[in-house]
Amino acid sequence: MAPFPKLVFLPFLLLLLLLSSIFSSGSAAPLLTRPPPRIRRDAPPTPLTLQAQQQSFSTFTLSPLLLLPQSTIQPLPSIPTTCALHNSPTPQSECPTYFEAANVTYDDCGDAWTVCRCSTADLSMDGAVEQLGRVPVGLRRYVATVLVLPGGPAPRAYTLTDGEVHVFGDPGVDAWVHEAAHALDWATGSPHSGSEGWLGALAEDSCVPDVYSATSAGEDFAQVVVLKTYALLHSDTLPPGWTPDCMAHQLAYLAALPLFTWSTLFANTCAIEGDGADTFSRHSTPPPTLPTRIQPTFPPEAQTQTLPLAAAAAAAAPETNTGMGTESPPSGPKQDNAAAPPLRGGWQLALVVACGVVLSGSFLC
Ligand SMILES: *[C@@H]1O[C@H](CO)[C@@H](O)[C@H](O)[C@H]1NC(C)=O
Repeated sequence: MAPFPKLVFLPFLLLLLLLSSIFSSGSAAPLLTRPPPRIRRDAPPTPLTLQAQQQSFSTFTLSPLLLLPQSTIQPLPSIPTTCALHNSPTPQSECPTYFEAANVTYDDCGDAWTVCRCSTADLSMDGAVEQLGRVPVGLRRYVATVLVLPGGPAPRAYTLTDGEVHVFGDPGVDAWVHEAAHALDWATGSPHSGSEGWLGALAEDSCVPDVYSATSAGEDFAQVVVLKTYALLHSDTLPPGWTPDCMAHQLAYLAALPLFTWSTLFANTCAIEGDGADTFSRHSTPPPTLPTRIQPTFPPEAQTQTLPLAAAAAAAAPETNTGMGTESPPSGPKQDNAAAPPLRGGWQLALVVACGVVLSGSFLC
């Protein structure tokens, strides 16, 4: 048989090229668009060689303690672009179905938070609004748009350097606080966790809070913020099983930030004035009326850290059920000591999973 003249294919090829250019510039284009690079981290996370003081944070939770502000949810007529970027019918998409979006206004702030919820997300819109609302306003004010996504058996979350938080499944309030801490870390564009002060603290200390904290200086910063939040809720006492000594410089770094006082972190307003004022906060318009609730601490009387930790836990235990609402499981006894099996072990692990995902992309966990 004579060889087929190759030129016969040319018209077909041209047609194919034409068609593909039409499709790639049409409505399908955004589905293929990668999120804009927002990473400023110039090196992969460096694991810390410091000892983990405990395995994980599964033996305590902040959630029964943190007060819930009142909120109003205003559905948005269109999905913000930053959310739409994560919505496509491909299985790899964070939201393979569709988003609903809302602006959420809490009674402690005049600026709304935008929340996009994927239709198949584990958390309902109300559930997500509650979890975000329990994040102390001093930290919450750094959180940008929140994406609430399906997580299946692996609840997890990550935060972009611009403060956008992606939550998969229902990782619990402590994870939301951890993510808000990342938003705080990066708020100025020059992260605390990369600062001379923080790296110096790590050089002086001999431990980090838990195994996950040793992932990187940034993860450690977020975990220490969670512990610090616990301490501010517990009259300066760390959760049972933790001692301040081997991480004293990390704790001191946070203590030196104006945000980490009880009255600033748990202010009833995102319009924090005085030393805690911060032009990098993303929500800072005062609420029309200041709420009057007061974030309680447990135990109510001030205590020093010389108090045996077990005694502090026992003193706090009767206060756990304060009628401030519950969080969806896994919750479990807040103050149960090391005897308790990990009740909420999922999210730390989950965050590690997110880190794995992240290496290919541009996020912080
Ligand atoms: C929703 O909230 C965002 C962030 O505060 C704001 O920029 C936007 O204007 C709000 N949209 C509406 C419709 O209120």
